[in-house]
Amino acid sequence: MTRLKANILKILFIVLSSLSPLSGFAHPSTPDWVKSAVFYDIYPSSFMDSDGNGIGDIKGIISRLDYVKSLGVDAIWMNPIFVSGWFDGGYDIIDFYKVDPRFGSNEDVRTLVDEAHKRGLKVCLDLVAGHSSNKCDWFIKSATEGRDGRYADYYIWTDSISSKDLKDIEKRHNEKEPISSKTGAWVGVKDQFIGDACIPDADRGSYYLKNYYVCQPALNYGYANPDPTKPWQQPVSAPGPQAMRRELKNIMSFWYDKGVDGFRVDMAQSLVKNDKDKKETMKLWKEMRDWQDTNYPGKVLIAEWGSPDKAVPAGFDIDFYLPWLRKVYADLIWETGKSKQVGPGAYFEKSGKGSIKRFVEQFYSDLEATSPYGYVAVPSSNHDYPRVNAGTRNTPEEVKVFMTFILTLPGIPFIHYGDEIGMRNVDNLPSVEGSRAERSGTRTPMQWKNEPSAGFSSASPEKLYLPVFLDGGKLTVEEQEKDSGSVLNFTRNLIRLRHEHPALGNEGDWKVVTSLDKPYPMVYTRTSGNRTYAVAFNPSAAACDTELDMPDAKSLVPLSAVGKAKAKVKNGKIRLKMDGISAYIYKIN
Ligand code: GLC
Repeated sequence: MTRLKANILKILFIVLSSLSPLSGFAHPSTPDWVKSAVFYDIYPSSFMDSDGNGIGDIKGIISRLDYVKSLGVDAIWMNPIFVSGWFDGGYDIIDFYKVDPRFGSNEDVRTLVDEAHKRGLKVCLDLVAGHSSNKCDWFIKSATEGRDGRYADYYIWTDSISSKDLKDIEKRHNEKEPISSKTGAWVGVKDQFIGDACIPDADRGSYYLKNYYVCQPALNYGYANPDPTKPWQQPVSAPGPQAMRRELKNIMSFWYDKGVDGFRVDMAQSLVKNDKDKKETMKLWKEMRDWQDTNYPGKVLIAEWGSPDKAVPAGFDIDFYLPWLRKVYADLIWETGKSKQVGPGAYFEKSGKGSIKRFVEQFYSDLEATSPYGYVAVPSSNHDYPRVNAGTRNTPEEVKVFMTFILTLPGIPFIHYGDEIGMRNVDNLPSVEGSRAERSGTRTPMQWKNEPSAGFSSASPEKLYLPVFLDGGKLTVEEQEKDSGSVLNFTRNLIRLRHEHPALGNEGDWKVVTSLDKPYPMVYTRTSGNRTYAVAFNPSAAACDTELDMPDAKSLVPLSAVGKAKAKVKNGKIRLKMDGISAYIYKIN
């Protein structure tokens, strides 16, 4: 087909799909596989170690692809695998074009992609678009090669900052641990972070802007409304910010050329500074999306933005619901709303205070804002926040209730490696590579076997990246494979149901049919065409019941069950009684 013909067909497709009610969700260029996808996320240092040094690697991941496939998931997303200063779990990148030697080589990425594709799995990498490491060559050159150097404006520099900002720096000096707060704070070049200054002097400026940790200087995509009295605030159209966009496209091309299927974009909302309404950041991503659609059609972009209503119109296919970005979600899944203290009896517990209501209203509104162009992604947990099995939510049955919730919501579920076997969030671990204690517990090695190093590594347990917690062997793949009622097999069944019954999947309608003011049971329906399913939860310890108006319902067929529940259909009503800690999926006939 000639290029012209291909372009005409593409335009026709875009026009038709925007007119047709059958166009479903998703940007016209969203690949089909995304529309029913379930993702699996892998923290590469902790998944599988092939060379016995106690740290996971790409060859290790390849050796476990059959397992990943056996879960029924469609795609994996890996946290950064690039050369890193290892001060923030790989998110402080030194070389965006090279795999960190701890994980293997660029060639290993090609092999991973080929092996995954052979099994029908897609592979997405992490695109850390907003910052680099302070050890990155760009940064060192930016600091030292003067104003005309190629990298001069890759970062944001100034010689003078306000006394308030100076105080802020002073305050940081007194912190025991480096703190990550204040995206956009200034850092003095001479004292980057205690004990690790790598640039003795910079002629480019005395201060640079950081994104997260001090060692993560913000890349310069410009300012939304530059203040002319602040010369470091360059407009987005200035040469530096434009060069940065080109570099970002280069990075994406580089990995797309190796066959990867998409990117999860770290802190996607943070790129353009002083961009309160995010208009300029949205324009930037729209440009990236258009560029991608022309040059690499069929790839997927996933945002860590936390506002699907903005990320999806900006060109992302998917945006994460993360507890600290959508606080209504934290209130729902953590009793205190704070990740450190997961509440008793799991989520919904605070509903007396309106947490169900707030969550449902926000979720509806995000679904509405993203449809028909993209998806909200609800992760089971991730490398930044506690696992499902955490705090006092600690029995296999409670984990199953939670997994039922995650895997029956519309949008795209992401399963954090190990959550499918209910791995425990391990408390009181040291901070490893910038994890801080609260993130270490969710980054511990995957537990394959009931052995001292959990079958993760041939290294002895004290040499592992982080310690394992086997709970007598129960929290391992090996043990759970043997048990048809295990969390592992339960999760597999949920994923299978999601794929077999489109109503339960990414695009089925979602409607909460119980009162938002009365917490339990919580029941929602999922509908597609003439098929309707009811999903019912009681995550509390006490039994509860409800009566629902369902004029068309004749009978209910349970497809998945946790705990005990009794459901009767009579005269267009469903009477439901649920024991404590229970969750059911019913097909409504
Ligand atoms: C994202 C990552 C997190 C990292 C931060 C800075 O939130 O998920 O792990 O520390 O960005 O890159």
